[in-house]
Amino acid sequence: MMKTDEKLIINGKRLDGRKPMDIREIEMKVGVIPNANGSAYVRFGKTTAFAAVYGPRELIPKHLQEPDKAILRCYYNMAPFSVSDRKRPGPDRRAVEISKVTKLAIEPALFLEEFPETTIDVYIDIIQADGSTRVTGINAASLALADAGIPMRDLIVALSGGKIDDTLIIDLCGKEDNYSEADIPIAFLPNTKEITLLQMDGRITPQEVKDTIRNILKAGEQVYKKQKEALKNRYK
Ligand code: CDP
Repeated sequence: MMKTDEKLIINGKRLDGRKPMDIREIEMKVGVIPNANGSAYVRFGKTTAFAAVYGPRELIPKHLQEPDKAILRCYYNMAPFSVSDRKRPGPDRRAVEISKVTKLAIEPALFLEEFPETTIDVYIDIIQADGSTRVTGINAASLALADAGIPMRDLIVALSGGKIDDTLIIDLCGKEDNYSEADIPIAFLPNTKEITLLQMDGRITPQEVKDTIRNILKAGEQVYKKQKEALKNRYK
């Protein structure tokens, strides 16, 4: 974690005026990419993600097929113009890691055994990055999969937590992400509260991790509500 002389919390208020447990303004929309089987747009403050789902469709080459289930492939990508100092285009180590954990976060919500020999492809593109892009991408993927009509056990809700000046916060913006003492992205299935993603970076006590998980399960209800609204709005 990098160091900064700038105070990230002053009198209990964060850089953008939020209290520690406030989430940024959320915007969610599904069916935004007509050519995809399912798609979604998700914005948390300035962090903006699109997700497009193709499939289930026959997996070519055939030797990659699983005879008794679909395979899920996730592709996380950050657009070159998504950050202020242009990101080099193409996959890097970070994108490979985020694609992998995104797949692991989503898989438990799907009935892959219903679609043998097929692939479900999930493309996540970050158009603007201001912290917490992987969780924003997972929320977009959740909606795009539901929009594609793919049977799901549950939606997948994702939110980041962290610690700044010994204060636990949620939904980290870019500066908080870069300078926080700890950064904990979490994804979970809202009905069973099964946690499908939990990563950690920085220094934090076991009790603070427990508290962060509790905070995110609680605040995640707002994200879950927004996801359901976005899906209902599709059919208005
Ligand atoms: O985005 P997320 O928190 O899931 O992952 P991260 O690797 O912890 O990145 C934190 C933040 O750093 C991103 O959300 C971006 O705002 C920023 N970032 C950047 O400016 N340039 C990069 N090449 C990668 C990340």
